[in-house]
Amino acid sequence: MSGATTPATVVERAALDLLWQAPSQGTGEPRGEGMPVELARRYGGRLAVTLRSDRPTVAANFVSTLDGIVAFGGDLTGGGLVSGFHEPDRFVMGLLRALADVVLVGAGTLRGSTDHRWTAAHVHPASAVATAAWRRAMGLAPQPTTVIATASGDIPFGHPGLNDARVPVVIATTPSGASRLRRASLGRNVSIEAIGGGTPLSGDDVTALGARLGARLIVCEGGPHVLGELVSSDVLDELFLTLAPQVVGRGDPRRIGLVEGIALSPDDARWHELVSVRRSTDHLFLRYRRREDRRATRES
Ligand SMILES: NC(=O)c1ccc[n+]([C@@H]2O[C@H](COP(=O)([O-])OP(=O)(O)OC[C@H]3O[C@@H](n4cnc5c(N)ncnc54)[C@H](OP(=O)(O)O)[C@@H]3O)[C@@H](O)[C@H]2O)c1
Repeated sequence: MSGATTPATVVERAALDLLWQAPSQGTGEPRGEGMPVELARRYGGRLAVTLRSDRPTVAANFVSTLDGIVAFGGDLTGGGLVSGFHEPDRFVMGLLRALADVVLVGAGTLRGSTDHRWTAAHVHPASAVATAAWRRAMGLAPQPTTVIATASGDIPFGHPGLNDARVPVVIATTPSGASRLRRASLGRNVSIEAIGGGTPLSGDDVTALGARLGARLIVCEGGPHVLGELVSSDVLDELFLTLAPQVVGRGDPRRIGLVEGIALSPDDARWHELVSVRRSTDHLFLRYRRREDRRATRES
């Protein structure tokens, strides 16, 4: 296996088991060349995402309980509670950030975290050297741009995710959100994009913004309301879903599922096809791709 070489600082933990992989990984230009050998070994094979030619490709990465909860609500924020602070989940999150030009998060996810930065090195420091080498091999900028979606512009300006000078940040907002944000003292790494014409941003606005930024791959890390916009606009191309083996129930209305804010009818449902299944202890790492024929699978 060829690929960039890096010092032996990466994870020497057990590799994810590749249980199943679709024969076709999609046609088109792949993003993922030069994956360092140690990352590919740990992941259980190379990771590549097929890039679209008509607009930025959009992938999402979430962790869910077996019963579909991705956030407990209230003060119980963060995917760590959902994954059980599962280190391999953070490893995979780091791989996807390493591939991304843009990491998209909603203001709810920003407000629900206190010290996060949306970089590969932050989420999985043990593979930071290798993921940085991988980005260099792919000719990508050192860090993906963090794009924060907010209609209100009411975000915590002191959040570390906005204040790392090495990480470009774009706040995608409405005109009124932009007015509020322009009164704030923001770092030189932060820019404000007023889009949406007064209405909340659609998934198409997000891909148009990504194209203006020169992005070929946008990785959405939530939350469920932002993902809902992407699903509603039908721009979500791939879903990386970690299934954590816990069941928690929905008795508390603050608990939220994978996709919120929309309710598609069965004949408008977004069907996907399975790309791969990996396993680490009792967690499953599912990768789905939007069906090109847009229809449900009929075979038994
Ligand atoms: N398990 C996981 O994998 C995972 C992943 C991510 C997040 N989470 C959890 O999910 C929770 C947050 O999720 P969430 O759904 O409440 O929040 P979210 O989707 O992160 O953010 C919602 C906020 O984003 C902005 N927004 C959403 N749609 C918009 C649109 N169309 N146009 C403009 N702005 C828009 C709005 O911000 P304003 O209110 O500022 O207008 C809205 O309040 C947190 O607990 C987080 O830890 C879990």
